[in-house]
Amino acid sequence: MCSIIGYLGISSAAPIIVKGLKRMEYRGYDSVGVATFSEHQINVRKGVGKVLEVNKAVKLDELSGTIGIGHTRWATHGMVTDANAHPHPSSSGEVAIVHNGIIENHEELKKMLQERGYAFKSQTDSEVIANLLQYNYDKTKEIKRSVVDTVSELKGNYAFVAVFQDGTLAAARLHEPLIIGVGKEGYFISSDVLGFVEYTDEVIYPDNKEFVIIDKDGLKIFDFDAKPVQHQITKVSKEFADAYKGQYAHYTLKEISEQPSTILSAGNNTKLEIDLASDLIKHARNVYITGSGTSYNAALIAKFLFSKYAKIKIDPLISSEAQFSPDMFEEKSILIAISQSGESADVLEAVDIAKKSGSKIISIVNMMTSSLVHQSSISMGLNCGPEIGVAATKSFTSQLVVLYKMVDKICNGCIELDLVKVSEAIKKILSNDSKIKDVAKKLKDVSDIYVLGRGIHYPIASEGSLKLKELTYIHAEGLPGGELKHGPLALMDSDSYVLIINPNDSTYNDTLTSAREIKARGAKIIGISDKPSDVYDYWIDIPSINESLYPLVEIVPIQLLAYYAAIDKDFDPDYPRNLAKSVTVK
Ligand code: F6R
Repeated sequence: MCSIIGYLGISSAAPIIVKGLKRMEYRGYDSVGVATFSEHQINVRKGVGKVLEVNKAVKLDELSGTIGIGHTRWATHGMVTDANAHPHPSSSGEVAIVHNGIIENHEELKKMLQERGYAFKSQTDSEVIANLLQYNYDKTKEIKRSVVDTVSELKGNYAFVAVFQDGTLAAARLHEPLIIGVGKEGYFISSDVLGFVEYTDEVIYPDNKEFVIIDKDGLKIFDFDAKPVQHQITKVSKEFADAYKGQYAHYTLKEISEQPSTILSAGNNTKLEIDLASDLIKHARNVYITGSGTSYNAALIAKFLFSKYAKIKIDPLISSEAQFSPDMFEEKSILIAISQSGESADVLEAVDIAKKSGSKIISIVNMMTSSLVHQSSISMGLNCGPEIGVAATKSFTSQLVVLYKMVDKICNGCIELDLVKVSEAIKKILSNDSKIKDVAKKLKDVSDIYVLGRGIHYPIASEGSLKLKELTYIHAEGLPGGELKHGPLALMDSDSYVLIINPNDSTYNDTLTSAREIKARGAKIIGISDKPSDVYDYWIDIPSINESLYPLVEIVPIQLLAYYAAIDKDFDPDYPRNLAKSVTVK
């Protein structure tokens, strides 16, 4: 893995680029380099070592110019040497590139280019991009055309940024991340939002097979067929600036791994609000609960918890459906709105409809500066820190904890909410994930997965299937076990994989019966349970815990399974295709 960055603006480029590289160093750190464009030429400085070491040695940040590119390397092709460090100029020095990924056909391209007189100085696969761009530019004398021709000849996975000798930046992506930052003082191109987040929170996510040209006329995006494409600018959280992946390869893994501590801190800053909200709910005429995606799955769990332990009936409503049930809410009702971001347009719309009918809003939110908090009578914070991975993980378990705390308050401690035990159980799952990694490998070529659970485990099945869909792009479906015989059994055959959520509680025997029915049709069964069974082809062991608390524990192995399956399929788990962290449009 490498990090790439580009900047074109009114500020001095090199210091901005060096800072960005330092923040993205987790992606690779065996060598580093910067190239800037100034006085009609491209100047390159680079070397072996970490960003600060190389900067000290060769003064990367003293390169002049307001346009530049940079790179931190994790060697794949070629040893760790100064010559192999990026940026790589073309043999005539009129183009220089930084690259992340692998060019599979670099040998044949190199041969072709050498035969035409283009010289190579490194052993990297990346250098062919520089010379191929140069070759195509020499033929066409047009930057856009040269990029189109180049990407049509490259095979492999890549994201690259090129600086041309007229100061134009061009960048392209195929299965590697590339994010554009749109700042007041310039444009950024980076592998990661962290590369530029302190300068702007406005970003564009180009799709696969798209390229970008940035020059004095601004920013243009095209697909690989040279057709212009439009993307909306979206906002990322300002709190990104404080977020680091640390030792983790991805935010998603970091956030999954933080759960032993985030479930302990959930709601800690808003204990008073939790008490007040519980009291309001206890005395309300009707209680509704809403959310989208993962937050809606938390709402479904809430329905079970409130009815079973607090003896209060609450009605879940998918936020985007609220507009079709405007008469649902009445005066003196309560709507509990759950949202990590507090900015989901669908949730805000549901809140607006409920408020117009005279209902009070209680919200459960992570981003306490969000619009939802402003719309609510009471807001309870998740207190789990910024969640950057697009797939919700730690925010989900934190939402559940806040809901558990409210229910436990209403039923005077009947849940026996021992969060320390839950935290220990999650730690055990995280520290013993080799089985999960093995099972993830089996999912590589699977096209459909069913996730089965009964009772309170059914919403977890829905949430698990959502994680699998988002991260692995495998079709996944959450099913209540008892519904199998009413239809879905028709889908089961020897190609099917079924994840059975089967903790040793009151649902255990019925769920095991469902598993046997599926097994009889030849499907592969992955059992998530604290009790082994011969029906499971693969058994993912979870620690036993108080019956009411299993949902907090059993989702974690499914999050990990989805994460590792995404890695095996070479997908970026932090930025699933077509999705955004905060959906602020309807
Ligand atoms: C799933 C996911 C989305 C969000 C949904 C609601 O992993 O991230 O389904 O849960 O877009 O977002 P919030 O909670 O911010 O309202």
